Amino acid sequence: MGKNIFEIEGKVILITGGYGILGSQMAEYLASQGAQIVILGRSEEKGEALAGKIKSSGNEAVSLVCDVMDQGCLEKNKKDILQKYGRIDVLINAAGGNMPGATIPPDKTIFDIDVAAFRDVVDLNLFGTVLPTLVFAKAMVDNGKGNIINIASESSFRPLTRVMGYGVAKAAVANFTKYMAGELAIKFGDNFRVNAIAPGFFITEQNRSLMLNPDGTYTDRAKSVIAHTPFRRFGEADELLGSVHYLVSDASAFVNGSILVVDGGFDSFTI
Ligand SMILES: NC(=O)c1ccc[n+]([C@@H]2O[C@H](COP(=O)([O-])OP(=O)(O)OC[C@H]3O[C@@H](n4cnc5c(N)ncnc54)[C@H](O)[C@@H]3O)[C@@H](O)[C@H]2O)c1
Repeated sequence: MGKNIFEIEGKVILITGGYGILGSQMAEYLASQGAQIVILGRSEEKGEALAGKIKSSGNEAVSLVCDVMDQGCLEKNKKDILQKYGRIDVLINAAGGNMPGATIPPDKTIFDIDVAAFRDVVDLNLFGTVLPTLVFAKAMVDNGKGNIINIASESSFRPLTRVMGYGVAKAAVANFTKYMAGELAIKFGDNFRVNAIAPGFFITEQNRSLMLNPDGTYTDRAKSVIAHTPFRRFGEADELLGSVHYLVSDASAFVNGSILVVDGGFDSFTI
């Protein structure tokens, strides 16, 4: 007794989509708790800006540039991380999101779907989680220990109107999470776990145009989300941090294949 099971100091945590709205909150918070953060994203400028901000508060972060769909680049990132830190303790797959082109407008039907955009959103959200998992989980297996946290969604459980491709992909992310929870533990032992967080509704870049009118007022869809949320509000990005900390830390050592819902009650509520 006396050990702090939530201690995460020194852990090497790689966050894809690390300078996105949810990813950057996780990066700053986990760094403030003593973790060493690797921010992975497509823009060097945005990644360096966030790493600089974290370092200027006396914490540890580096930025690596990569598209999560580019396996060759991910392999190169892996080499760079292993050279610097010798291991990857935690992978948080936070790159993803809906794409405006894959959204079915209210005056259109499923028969108007842009199949290429549908494929793109499935690719990003599903393969954008699968490919980093394949690359970085191998480093974890080589090190004998690993912890992966995926970002699922409300649409993993029940489809939301208009965003069919996103929902299909996030349902697959939830399934992949559970698959990998079994796969890694069965083949490599109980030092490996894979879980997901399913955030409810948070206003970020990937859903801003669906939730806010150009003048900043709520769209009908945003009003419908709030009416369907017992808390009667959107989430704030920092309200995910306790769940992320829990899954990163040894406090959740026996938690494997779980999908932690953080949604103000949206998923539990009917009328
Ligand atoms: N905002 C919400 O309400 C909500 C709800 C449920 C799930 N999520 C999920 O949370 C995760 C984070 O999203 P967010 O809300 O912070 O949105 P965001 O748009 O702020 O962040 C997403 C990040 O992913 C990056 N990204 C996109 N494509 C990429 C690629 N090919 N390679 C590398 N990086 C790429 C973006 O540049 C961005 O930095 C996503 O998986 C999203 O689907 C968000």
